[in-house]
Amino acid sequence: MRKTSINLIILFAVLCIFGCNKKENQSKTQPETMENIQVSDYGVTSKGDSIKKYTLTNKNGMKLEVINFGGIITSLTAPDKNGKYEDVVLGFTKPEDYFNGNPYYFGALIGRYGNRIANAKFTLEGKSYDIDKNDGPNSLHGGKEGFHTKFWNIEPVKDAKFPTLKLTYTSADGEEGYPGKLTTTVFYTLTDDNTLEISYEAETDKPTVVNLTQHSYFNLSGNFTKTITDHELQINADKFLSVNETLIPTGEQKLVKGTPFDFTVSKPIGKDINSNDDQLKKGKGYDHNWILNGSGLRSIAKVYHAESGRVMEVLTDEPGVQFYSGNFLDGKFDTKTGGKNEFRTGFCLETQHFPDSPNQTSFPSTELKPGQKYQSKTIYKFSVKK
Ligand code: BGC
Repeated sequence: MRKTSINLIILFAVLCIFGCNKKENQSKTQPETMENIQVSDYGVTSKGDSIKKYTLTNKNGMKLEVINFGGIITSLTAPDKNGKYEDVVLGFTKPEDYFNGNPYYFGALIGRYGNRIANAKFTLEGKSYDIDKNDGPNSLHGGKEGFHTKFWNIEPVKDAKFPTLKLTYTSADGEEGYPGKLTTTVFYTLTDDNTLEISYEAETDKPTVVNLTQHSYFNLSGNFTKTITDHELQINADKFLSVNETLIPTGEQKLVKGTPFDFTVSKPIGKDINSNDDQLKKGKGYDHNWILNGSGLRSIAKVYHAESGRVMEVLTDEPGVQFYSGNFLDGKFDTKTGGKNEFRTGFCLETQHFPDSPNQTSFPSTELKPGQKYQSKTIYKFSVKK
């Protein structure tokens, strides 16, 4: 009698432990659907990874879509002056175009290093490192298999005030040539005031360099066949970095005053873009790092599209922003609104540390040491002006 009840207790305990474990594993592998975060199947990569799409919706009906391949933002809607929500970020129409190369880096999380590192090498604490050379002589956006090609673990954050996704990716020591195992966490939050907040965190087990950013291309018209040259842009920066022929900073910090690079007062992107200017020729348009005024989390740029009334304000705690006017978009892919992704039909405002910092001692450092925590925040806030 006694023995039977002990056996029953043991059986019950075993069942309970098994049940609890199962639940824990499920929460790791099974995406959870919450009221304001929907999960659906997106596609399957050539490696056989099945990719999910997470759709976040705020109380106004604004939507953010993110996939667990590259942490890519595939869609983001924003209201126009009549309250109409339309997609304002460029993207492909076929999932495989994201999976097989994403040559424009549409919507992707960029790591370990946003923008270029000269000659694909740098020296850190006396050791020299060769990293992946994927852009002429240089390394661009973390190498060919940078974070934009990786499978990210995504969890909707429970009990967050607004719909929030937590994305994690661990980059092995030596990946794309970079030293140290890097544990990376990114949070995407869609708030009720139509703001997309992006927070980045990273830790390493060996000295390394890190510069994370987001590569969404915006077109506030909601029509991706239109160029962005009519968008009015203001950047809070008195200086920018001049570049050489391969778009590596020369080290010179140039004053924007009196040049086509002056966006201190709002002006259409197209106003001076075709000026006879050596720096514009090198970038085939704007493709430069502006040295942002001030420090800490602050408003750094504002974009206004008069026809739709849409406004996008950018805030960041980073020292720089790469304003890229979509000069390498070459019409090879379909847009989500019909037609092709042509020259200058989208622009990026990539908040970042300066390009090639690991090789330029006068720039703010991008080094990360074991025990330190990399933290950075960028906000894209949408509103309307009538
Ligand atoms: C760079 C461009 C590059 C583009 C890739 C931007 O961040 O500054 O030079 O072509 O990314 O789509």
